[in-house]
Amino acid sequence: MTKSTTGDPVLGATRDIITLKSEKDGCMVIGPFSEAATPEVHVAQGPRAAAALAANEVIALVVATVGLRGCANIALSGGNTPRLLYQHLVALGRDAAPWDRVTFWFGDERCVPLDDAASNAGTAWHELLRPLDIAPAQVVSVPAGDPSDAATAYEALLRARLGQATPFLDLVLLGIGADGHVASLFPGDSSVDEQVALVRAVNAPPGHAIGQRVTLTLPMINRSRAVFFLATGVDKQAAVAAALHGACPSPSPAARVRPAGRLAWFLDAAAAPVR
Ligand code: 6PG
Repeated sequence: MTKSTTGDPVLGATRDIITLKSEKDGCMVIGPFSEAATPEVHVAQGPRAAAALAANEVIALVVATVGLRGCANIALSGGNTPRLLYQHLVALGRDAAPWDRVTFWFGDERCVPLDDAASNAGTAWHELLRPLDIAPAQVVSVPAGDPSDAATAYEALLRARLGQATPFLDLVLLGIGADGHVASLFPGDSSVDEQVALVRAVNAPPGHAIGQRVTLTLPMINRSRAVFFLATGVDKQAAVAAALHGACPSPSPAARVRPAGRLAWFLDAAAAPVR
């Protein structure tokens, strides 16, 4: 482990950077950073334009990260909003980024079969991974079976692949619920206050289609080198405003996403907070 201070092409800033060499593929992982970043807020007119902005930034981050360290680890978001982002990434073409050097993880998963329409991995395979011809070995899905066992197993995979002591992801893609939930961290649930486990099994509150879920926790999300939120539609506006400008401490899980690295919001005009 070495500590250096350098201009980081991904973050475009100078920060104390601790470099860890991963055991497996010679891919170095860099982090954590010395302070939380100031959120960037990118607003486009409509959902497609917001997704296109996000897609361009994802491509730039992957290119820079792989160029810097030879690989990249990204956690994909759940829900429906990312579909437009995935479609833009596919439309940019397989050669737009060194996708064969990327390992794909999941920020959360509903405990359903892969072929269930509610499966986040199923959506990612259909909209992004298969169209980009991603090899199955590049995708680390949440294991099936008992949610608690799956959470334990997924955390073990993160530590085995990204560093036992302090595993980091290069990018976590997140959506946001109208209640301010991120991944499957729902307001008022004990998982939001988890300080040790990197992955937790949770039960979504009533009203959510799928109850049993597995989710990254804030300690894992906030270790990331970058977190990109994509939110569109007026139903998200209040949650986005609470996340960006809400009182501290905030009951909104989204407001507690403060990665050590870059934090960027990609919004359409409808979801953007009214100043
Ligand atoms: C999930 C997601 C969740 C999602 C929000 C927004 O598995 O449900 O991870 O956090 O991002 O609920 O969902 P939509 O994009 O469908 O509005």
